[in-house]
Amino acid sequence: MSPATKGKVLLVLYKGGDHARQVKQLLGCLENELGIRDFIEKNGYELVSTDSKDPIGESEVDEHLKDAEIIITTPFFPAYITKERLAKAPKLKMCVTAGVGSDHIDLNAANEHKITVTEVTGSNVVSVSEHAVMTILDLVRNFVPAHEQAVSKGWDIAGAAKDSYDLEGKTVATVGAGRIGYRILERLVAFNPKKLYYYDYQDLPKDAIDKLNKASELFNGHGNIVERVENLEEMLGKSDVVTINAPLHEKTKGLFNKDLISKMKDGAWLVNTARGAICVAEDVAEALESGKLRGYGGDVWNVQPAPDNHPWRTMRNKFGGGNAMTPHISGTSLDAQARYSAGVQSILESYFSGKHDYRQQDVIVIDGDYATKSYGERHKMK
Ligand code: NAI
Repeated sequence: MSPATKGKVLLVLYKGGDHARQVKQLLGCLENELGIRDFIEKNGYELVSTDSKDPIGESEVDEHLKDAEIIITTPFFPAYITKERLAKAPKLKMCVTAGVGSDHIDLNAANEHKITVTEVTGSNVVSVSEHAVMTILDLVRNFVPAHEQAVSKGWDIAGAAKDSYDLEGKTVATVGAGRIGYRILERLVAFNPKKLYYYDYQDLPKDAIDKLNKASELFNGHGNIVERVENLEEMLGKSDVVTINAPLHEKTKGLFNKDLISKMKDGAWLVNTARGAICVAEDVAEALESGKLRGYGGDVWNVQPAPDNHPWRTMRNKFGGGNAMTPHISGTSLDAQARYSAGVQSILESYFSGKHDYRQQDVIVIDGDYATKSYGERHKMK
């Protein structure tokens, strides 16, 4: 670290290459550094940016963690901040997630070392909910195979239509009805589903439910569309489409395994834009191939970047479709990048000023403890 600066801020982002030069609003890549270099330097700190995060123990991240005071990472290109890494970062005071979801950081270890963990809560929840709804439509309508025909000069209407349905009249369920899950339900009302179910630790507020029921009454001529189901398996057994919108933690890791998937309706569609590790990759691929699932889609993978041989790259249903995967892009639209970059700057402002007056909902762990008892409680703090 340069002796003339107050401390070192380490920023870990993926390379944007020509894209970053082409589009300056691509703030989330290495070249554009969230647009915060000047701000950090004006505050007397040194900024080091890198995309070298692996292998753990041998990367530039490891080198700079030895004397960094703040590390900024993203869920899109996660530098895994493990217990071992934190043990070798004696000056580290804060980990900032540019986005939402800090499961790439060992939060218990951060507590042990009294390192604050913050994220930009809410910054990309609209982006993710739009992507989830798009993925549901892609799967139900069988868009991807039809599009592949269009661009490869094909015209086999029967081949695409034999696995294409309407979303209207279907039953859709969300596992987790927080900021994203609720926004998905809001958007789905317009498609006139038969029923919208949610499974969460807590009830949605009454006014939130009333709003959806009234909207359904207005658009579709029938209210009482939303219902909480307290038993996950029961909900899965009666849902045509299931979308996962809960954080990754001990209770959700590997939750959608062979056993739980077997409780789903035969031929259901499963969409996961929360975290890849909530599903067991091989079990999902097997369920798609056996026909238990008709489709699976989302943008999050249990390892990122996903290896070439990841089963979700090649899995297909018996009709050759049913795969609506993308790289981890749902929460990183240009609009979202502007919001989470501004949010990171605002967190750093609070830190540099010494006031530490962060938005309450942005704080995950602080002073050696979890900021709230659960992610669920943060839902109330919009
Ligand atoms: P949130 O905190 O507002 O809502 C999460 C909800 O999940 C809460 O209501 C909570 O009670 C519920 N929940 C927790 N554990 C559960 C369980 N075992 N079963 C059922 N419900 C459970 O969070 P938000 O903003 O809606 O984000 C949700 C997740 O989406 C994040 O934790 C993150 O992992 C993921 N995400 C993905 C992004 C992407 O780019 N693909 C971007 C942003 C978030």
